[in-house]
Amino acid sequence: MADFDFDDSPEAGLKGSLGKDFFWGYATAAPQIEGAWSTAGKGPSTWDTLAHTPGRVVDGSTADDACRSYDFFRDDVALMKRYGVTAYRFSLSWSRIIPLGGKDDAVNEAGVGFYSDLIDELLKAGITPFVTLFHWDVPQALEERYKSMLDPGRYIPDFVRYARVCFERFGDRVGHWITYNEPGVYALAGYAGGAHAPNRSSDRAKYSEGDTSTEPWIVGHTQLLSHAQVYRMYKEEFAPTQHGTIGITLSGNWSAPYDASSPADIAAAQRALEFEIAWFADPVFGPGDYPASMRAQLGARLPTFSPAEKKLVNGSSDFYGMNTYTAFFVRDAVPPGQPIPPEDHKGNLAWSDTNSEGVSRGAESDTEWLRTSPWGFAALLRWIWARYHTPIFVTENGTTARGEHVSAPPGDDVLNDVHRIDFYRAYVGELARAVKEDGVDIRSYFGWTLLDNWEWAKGYTDRFGVTWVDFESEEKTRYPKRSATFMREYFGHLIA
Ligand code: NOJ
Repeated sequence: MADFDFDDSPEAGLKGSLGKDFFWGYATAAPQIEGAWSTAGKGPSTWDTLAHTPGRVVDGSTADDACRSYDFFRDDVALMKRYGVTAYRFSLSWSRIIPLGGKDDAVNEAGVGFYSDLIDELLKAGITPFVTLFHWDVPQALEERYKSMLDPGRYIPDFVRYARVCFERFGDRVGHWITYNEPGVYALAGYAGGAHAPNRSSDRAKYSEGDTSTEPWIVGHTQLLSHAQVYRMYKEEFAPTQHGTIGITLSGNWSAPYDASSPADIAAAQRALEFEIAWFADPVFGPGDYPASMRAQLGARLPTFSPAEKKLVNGSSDFYGMNTYTAFFVRDAVPPGQPIPPEDHKGNLAWSDTNSEGVSRGAESDTEWLRTSPWGFAALLRWIWARYHTPIFVTENGTTARGEHVSAPPGDDVLNDVHRIDFYRAYVGELARAVKEDGVDIRSYFGWTLLDNWEWAKGYTDRFGVTWVDFESEEKTRYPKRSATFMREYFGHLIA
């Protein structure tokens, strides 16, 4: 007996709107779930360093254990099988595979073996692996040797060699690769705001090093160039025999004008999308260079591409990997004619939760930046499709919900996560409508996330999972939430 009846719901008409080859499942990232931070030869990453520095994680926690997925990965796979997924997106820890990270450093066979076993377990369960090479954890040794991405000349060969090892060892069984996860968030949170690893910022009160006015743009550039080199290497050396696809995943939330009748606000919303998304997407999928709005504001602080680099980067992704969560209303922060401060890295914007008519951007979650805004997802899918005309893989989307911070065992009221069910119902419904009504080419949907986990500098204070995790228990006991059942039945309805 099904728990949810879609035939008698607003989603009835969406039945069978997604093809049989549509991939759906959940996404995770190594530092957020694995634990085993120094087990079996793993080297420390910049996130281990951050977590072990007092005051850097809001609840004072570390990711030393997290969900212990390193130990319990077979249980995770069994859980996913029960949840009915067809695909699983996870990331590899670079410093588990190459503890010191560099191109001449040794490969850790135990680390390779761990991922090899995980991949085999997934395939045995009939679940297609989507593998992210970089989800924010740089080997600490590379940060110490040459400040990692701030020195592209040294960083790029190290990253390319790491990717080569992954293709050599796993490429016979992995056909979906993602080079970078959210390069923009990595650059801004780590080098502007500074709350993320490697904690660089001009804010001397909080962090000891960094220059917000230049570093995020260098770090973005380094990621683009190294992504593109890895893409070309895969295409030339591995794709002919491994037949896989490879691309990049970008973050992006919809931005709408605060006042829809104000030309300045309309321009501000467009600029927001360019600073967040087109920063990476225009060089890769679009005209092959940074957007004019960024160049106009940032001038020479934004690096330039040589003609050869342009050629390298342009067209270097088989798909558009899309992470998205919410929507915002925006307008100018500084009025025209006044100087924009050099530390502004978001396009001179002021944000609000309601627009000029008092309409809210959506229902609140347990996380201040995140509201349920499916209208924004609908608009964003079409904006990306119209601007880049590239197949879209939705690689992350999800929400926190209030009231999940309880002690084990969680009651039925907690496990019946109505807010998350409503979120997924609305967002996935918009995805299906974009496919069915507008022919947008969307090939996957990964919910964020499989398990409540370590939300970076927010520690264990944000629970995004379709599985409630008891972080107090030795085994990090997993309790399925009702949203997991909902998703299985919803995708059963949508996929013909
Ligand atoms: C995007 C990131 O890729 C992921 O690691 C993070 O946990 C989620 N957003 C939620 O903030």
